[in-house]
Amino acid sequence: MKGTPSSDLRIIDSPREMQALSRQVRAEGKTIAFVPTMGYLHEGHASLMREGRRRADLLVASIFVNPTQFGAGEDFNAYPRDLAGDMRIAEEAEVDVIFVPAASQMYPAGYQTYVNVEDLTLPLCGASRPGHFRGVTTVVAKLFNIVMPHVALFGKKDYQQLAVIRRMAADLNMDIDILGMPIVREADGLAMSSRNSYLSPEERRAALCLSRGIAEARKLFAAGVRESGQLKSAVAAVVAAEPLAAPEYLELRDGGSLEEVSLVGSGTLVALAVRIGKTRLIDNCILGDVD
Ligand code: PAJ
Repeated sequence: MKGTPSSDLRIIDSPREMQALSRQVRAEGKTIAFVPTMGYLHEGHASLMREGRRRADLLVASIFVNPTQFGAGEDFNAYPRDLAGDMRIAEEAEVDVIFVPAASQMYPAGYQTYVNVEDLTLPLCGASRPGHFRGVTTVVAKLFNIVMPHVALFGKKDYQQLAVIRRMAADLNMDIDILGMPIVREADGLAMSSRNSYLSPEERRAALCLSRGIAEARKLFAAGVRESGQLKSAVAAVVAAEPLAAPEYLELRDGGSLEEVSLVGSGTLVALAVRIGKTRLIDNCILGDVD
């Protein structure tokens, strides 16, 4: 709870126990903020937690590497895990409860229910990772039913994920405020990600082509460029200049509908996914926004 020492951090691994606590907190007239994560926490996650701390009486963060959002051949087994390190970061951000369910509790034998958002999940990461968002919306819907938050916080680093979750919450009448938070970057511009830990020193340097590409888009937009083809080729050239980079997509889309645009304006999403060696990284910005 607000104001209590951080050593009060409580770990809950049972969905039933988590639900019981949330029910009790709600019955006391208190509010709940929730930050879902897959762990290997960094400053990006911590920024969400700190905002959640400000917004509610009870702050819950979940750590669950969700198998249903990884495709065959993706990095589910290799995904970095460090519960002790995560607990330190959560304590510092004054998280009250870490919810760490086992996969067998979230998807017991016989499980067969999935949540699917349609059009918004088709382009961008949805096109390159079929089934990914179905796994994300399913687990987030389940986590919402377990944690029963008043507000849930997501990063704009995963811009499409945020849009998809907003859509799901609205479409399914979930009484939860979905809050989007700015991308937190390393000092040199690289967007923070648990997957950055996969990068060798050489790849870490190469990974800067994503944020450089985003910076180029912002620069050209500020200089008055509005033709999407022109903007796209300039960003593509920045990425192509990096020999270790293999671009997966680079797209200019409406920040709300995620539909393609031929002329860019304030509110246009610039989104890219690039492979650096075996590591898949994403970055984006909304033209005209400060963050
Ligand atoms: P994960 O990648 O651990 O991210 C958890 C949350 O932290 C997401 O909302 C993500 O957008 C945010 N985040 C990650 N890096 C960030 C950065 N550099 N700046 C700001 N926010 C950042 O996203 C997931 O987990 C999962 O898909 C999940 C929603 C937990 C469902 O399994």
